[in-house]
Amino acid sequence: MKLSDNAANFFNTVANGRQLRFFRSDLAALFERELFVTRIRVINGPNLNLLGQREPEQYGQRSLEDIMQELGQFAVTCDVELEHMQTNSEGEMVDAIQRMGADGIDYIILNPAAYTHTSVAIRDALLAVEIPFVEVHLSAVSSREPFRQTTYFSDIAIGVVSGFRGESYLLALQAILNRIEP
Ligand code: DQA
Repeated sequence: MKLSDNAANFFNTVANGRQLRFFRSDLAALFERELFVTRIRVINGPNLNLLGQREPEQYGQRSLEDIMQELGQFAVTCDVELEHMQTNSEGEMVDAIQRMGADGIDYIILNPAAYTHTSVAIRDALLAVEIPFVEVHLSAVSSREPFRQTTYFSDIAIGVVSGFRGESYLLALQAILNRIEP
């Protein structure tokens, strides 16, 4: 290979004032990943930051951090981009969903927690952005108190996973992966 051929395989650019040099093939892979990688966001609602201490007979012994770490590791092996958030505020959940719409997120894994049974605002945000989502619960909500039988989400979700403690999130991610590559 001549020096000039070799030079043609490099691409020079300046980012943050630093000269960067890429192989063309690296750049192509970078753009391809940016364009085609599946982007998934996990939203956890109120009181889920207390997992591990909170009613362990319903929700299990594991902390949210532990469950999300395991989910993140699974996502890496499946080559999908996954980020998670937790908030105790309904408004923050609505804002986050609206941002996800603007950012072109592909799927949401959503545990609305207590807002499952009350929130028209979060439901409307999901309908507005039209991002397919899986509704997740650690506990088996359908066999608990009557007020938990009402969900504002299951009729608009692509599916519901409920009752498998922290594993519910893994099952939701697996269901999304099955849709991407049937
Ligand atoms: C929950 C079930 C809800 O009824 C409850 O309010 C929660 C957690 C679950 O994951 O089992 O906070 O969403």
